[in-house]
Amino acid sequence: MALVPMRILLDAALKGTYAVGAYNVNNMEQIQAIMAAASRTKTPVIIQASRGALKYSNFTYLKHLMDAAAEENPDIPIAMHLDHGNSLDTCKKAIELGFTSVMIDGSLKEDSKTPTTFEENLDVTKSVIDYARPRGVTVEAELGTLGGIEDGVGSGRINLTDPDQAVEFVERTKVDALAVAIGTSHGAYKFKEEPKLALNLVKEIHSRIPETALVMHGSSSVPEDLVAIVNKYGGKMPNARGVPISAIQSVIPYGVAKVNIDTDGRLAITGAIRKVFIETPEKFDPRDYLGPARTALTELVSQKMVDLGTAGHAGEIQMTSLDEMKAFYMNKGLL
Ligand code: G3H
Ligand code: 13P
Ligand code: ZN
Repeated sequence: MALVPMRILLDAALKGTYAVGAYNVNNMEQIQAIMAAASRTKTPVIIQASRGALKYSNFTYLKHLMDAAAEENPDIPIAMHLDHGNSLDTCKKAIELGFTSVMIDGSLKEDSKTPTTFEENLDVTKSVIDYARPRGVTVEAELGTLGGIEDGVGSGRINLTDPDQAVEFVERTKVDALAVAIGTSHGAYKFKEEPKLALNLVKEIHSRIPETALVMHGSSSVPEDLVAIVNKYGGKMPNARGVPISAIQSVIPYGVAKVNIDTDGRLAITGAIRKVFIETPEKFDPRDYLGPARTALTELVSQKMVDLGTAGHAGEIQMTSLDEMKAFYMNKGLL
């Protein structure tokens, strides 16, 4: 089995100056597409499931699909990650399911909408670390809030990460990875006009906590060609806009070791399915449209793996068990 704690992937990325893509999944085709891309490009990968994804798949289905991905791809290191956990209970449930990494999004209350205070965020993050670390499981936290609202996740208000708070937060929690808010948001409509991002903030935060892996959420680029396919085949996505890949690449040397991508995958899938429906309306076998959707996603993710600099690094990762990770934390005095 090639499931590893996410920390192993992030430490290697920090050292090698590349970022690991964290791709959201809900079903078999998405997992297969990501693994086909990882296998083709020899890339370590983070497969992540939101609470919504776990609920949609009835928890066990997604867990077993991820296990299947690991079984089928023994040479590809995979971190199985909970995206935007909203409470200790949710994180516990994911860890019990076998996730090797969890995000506790303590920037928002349990409703995933209302911003918390700094101390509230610290408290819930610490409680998750106290549970996860003795089990060797990686923890990602978030400081600051993203700008978008999507499916109930997000405050809708951008609250950029404060560098002083970031230093204090990492000192007091010893978290493995920190998601920073620099003006991105979830979804396909990130900016009304030109992208505005506080890229210098990443540089400042990194200069103060250089050993902490930083995470960029809301990092889909919303490629024009994918939006054009969706719109050409009956979709309606005017003014969709994302984060230019060049902006992401510019901060990878400054500690950004994990880049979250969901929306771009949704666009690739939806465009491919719409095309089949419009061009061949007589088709009704799900394989006739889910197959092309899977192929489109494989192409997209393969390109991301190259763009983020992750391609080719799979062989360098030490396949590490959760028990070995526990020993790592002990040696570092983090447990
Ligand atoms: O956090 C946002 C991700 O895109 C997951 O979205 O909650 O609709 O699964 P979701
Ligand atoms: P996008 O909506 O930009 O793909 O961001 C996904 C994300 O941050 C998941 O946590
Ligand atoms: Zn996110």
